[in-house]
Amino acid sequence: MLRVEGLCKHFGGIRAVDQCSFEIAKGSISALIGPNGAGKTTAFNCISRTMEPTAGKVWLDGKRIDHLKPHKVTRLGLSRTFQITRSLEDLTVLENLCVQATSHGFARLVGPSISEEERAKAEEILDFLGISRLAYEQARNLSYGQRKLMDFAALLMSDPKIILLDEPAGGVNPRLLDDIVEHIRALHARGLTVLIVEHNMELVMSLCEHIVVMAQGRVIADGPPDAIKANPEVLEAYLGASTAAEETSDAEAAHV
Ligand SMILES: Nc1ncnc2c1ncn2[C@@H]1O[C@H](COP(=O)(O)OP(=O)(O)OP(=O)(O)O)[C@@H](O)[C@H]1O
Ligand SMILES: [Mg+2]
Repeated sequence: MLRVEGLCKHFGGIRAVDQCSFEIAKGSISALIGPNGAGKTTAFNCISRTMEPTAGKVWLDGKRIDHLKPHKVTRLGLSRTFQITRSLEDLTVLENLCVQATSHGFARLVGPSISEEERAKAEEILDFLGISRLAYEQARNLSYGQRKLMDFAALLMSDPKIILLDEPAGGVNPRLLDDIVEHIRALHARGLTVLIVEHNMELVMSLCEHIVVMAQGRVIADGPPDAIKANPEVLEAYLGASTAAEETSDAEAAHV
């Protein structure tokens, strides 16, 4: 469903994504994991074309997408969430879904209101996610967890073939987490391909059949959960990262 070859994104001297290659099988639930700063979000940005990569090729269901505008990529069936939730605060949840779905920019916002078809679709998705009661709530009034669900709902408006989720479990309470996991499984059962960036290892190991591990911009491991768990390089990357973080906080503490 997704093939990434030699993907690179450099910010000046920082190689945020460095020669990344991996494939995500149709109908799978896969994860892209790695320590903070590994380049996961940047890779998502480059794949979904919200960021111009420095180099690399990306195929979606056999078609090259690495030269397309983000809305074209969405139209071809790839939909992604953002690590930090984004919404139009003054609009209702239903309006947010419809606006974000097609996102034809400003003209869309000042243009005619939502079509009946879009409204029906948004209502169906909100119902599927069990948040119909929030349809006419302004986004500004939503809790963090409700925003996550709204993002999730918006993702489905474009009838995606594959969804890229950036830390769906980040900062949500255990009950909502269960809820989100259940929805991911239900979507997968309907044939959707799912790629998740997530730090919650328990969730990743139980949900995903295939894991790609990044560290310092590079893919360092790729395989099923058991192989990844037993991979010394992966362990090293995580331990190295936490040691570095500890050293930084030690240094900060010493400084204080
Ligand atoms: N716009 C940018 N300009 C400069 N450097 C950036 C930019 N975006 C990301 N980086 C750098 O690129 C590297 C990878 O960042 P990225 O956000 O992709 O990591 P991540 O794996 O998603 O981390 P996390 O798990 O913390 O979300 C980091 O060193 C980061 O500081
Ligand atoms: Mg990130």
